[in-house]
Amino acid sequence: MTTASALARLLRPVAGLPPDMSVADVADRLLTPEHKAFLSLPIVDGAGRPLGLVSRTTLQDIFMQRFGRDLRGRHPVREVMNPRPLTVSLDTSLEDAAKQITGQLKYPITEDFILVDQQGLYQGLGTVLDLLKAMEARIAQRNGVLRKALVELKESQTQLVQSEKMASLGQMVAGVAHELNTPLGYVKNNVQLLRELTTPLFELAAAQAALADCLADPQCDEARLASALETAASARQAAAPELLADDLNQLFGDTLYGLEQIAELVVGLKNFARLDRAMSEEVDINECIRSALVIARNSIKDKAEVVLLLGDLPRIPCAPSQINQVLLNLFTNAAQAIDGFGQVLVKSWADDGAVFISVQDNGRGMPPQVLSKIFDPFFTTKPVGQGTGLGLSISFKIIQDHGGQIRVASEPGRGTRFLIRLPRPETAVAITELQRSA
Ligand SMILES: Nc1ncnc2c1ncn2[C@@H]1O[C@H](COP(=O)(O)OP(=O)(O)O)[C@@H](O)[C@H]1O
Ligand SMILES: [Mg+2]
Repeated sequence: MTTASALARLLRPVAGLPPDMSVADVADRLLTPEHKAFLSLPIVDGAGRPLGLVSRTTLQDIFMQRFGRDLRGRHPVREVMNPRPLTVSLDTSLEDAAKQITGQLKYPITEDFILVDQQGLYQGLGTVLDLLKAMEARIAQRNGVLRKALVELKESQTQLVQSEKMASLGQMVAGVAHELNTPLGYVKNNVQLLRELTTPLFELAAAQAALADCLADPQCDEARLASALETAASARQAAAPELLADDLNQLFGDTLYGLEQIAELVVGLKNFARLDRAMSEEVDINECIRSALVIARNSIKDKAEVVLLLGDLPRIPCAPSQINQVLLNLFTNAAQAIDGFGQVLVKSWADDGAVFISVQDNGRGMPPQVLSKIFDPFFTTKPVGQGTGLGLSISFKIIQDHGGQIRVASEPGRGTRFLIRLPRPETAVAITELQRSA
């Protein structure tokens, strides 16, 4: 739809009246059914140029006057028309036309507006009501487009959050697979070794059983007994159970340790990835810290020593998998900021109003111009594949949704500290205060 045709659609093809037509005839014309919808009638010269508009109210005023019809009825309409009517060119856009007309409009509205072509020749009448309706339709249409854009924006935001989740999930899966591989490897070796070490024990048992059979059998002769004794003795020597005991103990111990590590990882994984129940779930944030560390261990262990100073925390309502996501990102960011080998210090504590988590590294730190942008979506200083630039912006949103705050302090060359505050529910605070005053 072109803008010109939008205005052309409003055009009402009303015939232009000659300026010398009498006032009374024009008034009669205005009373005919096809002109009922109009507030005014156009006056046009012989060449088609609009000269003015004569309004219904003007005509009414004349005829309401005593002898008005007699005195003025025969005069040409030119004398009582408005010689400066609102005129709009047909190729004006709907918006501009609305602007021009509403800008000059006088209230109450007593006249229509004249539509002219590019040469300024009269084409028809437009009514303000039609114009307003058309504008309203257009605004509704624009609103629809905006609403759709908003929905799309929200969708792509959800997709972004999802893609950062997938990125941290991928990171997590790779980390966990790696972590599982080490204990799995030596558990497998140990079991193979156990099988090799226990084979001579079965041979010994068989030799001793043969010997016992011979001893219990009155038919067993000296030669058979001697050979059975001999076999049992060499099987015993080969098996060396007195030496084996220590080895087996050690192997069983190691294997169990490996299996426990695997079990711990599986529990960690389960805790980390568990689906959140309602936000009303009461969670010990220290558990989140531990399970996120299990997951992040693989990316941290070659970069830093992790020091944990975890205080006693009250349980608070939160979405643990979201908090885990925040912590995992802080831990991986810390590890990625360290050149060589450093330290990540994780602290937690609580006061009457909130639970606090601090994650501090002694890595590269950030200059102010980086620091001011780290919570912006897509801001990253990392090469493609290492950073999405979404971790902290999502973390910010998650902590905000929990009613908390996340703050950062950083110094280039010295390190960075993130501090998270998660508020305790009001009632819990009230109860502690009650207990204190009792
Ligand atoms: N502990 C930190 N030390 C130094 N810089 C950091 C630290 N944490 C975050 N940053 C900076 O903030 C940027 C944004 O972090 P984030 O939103 O997690 O995205 P990403 O890790 O994918 O780059 C990082 O690229 C990095 O420049
Ligand atoms: Mg990150």
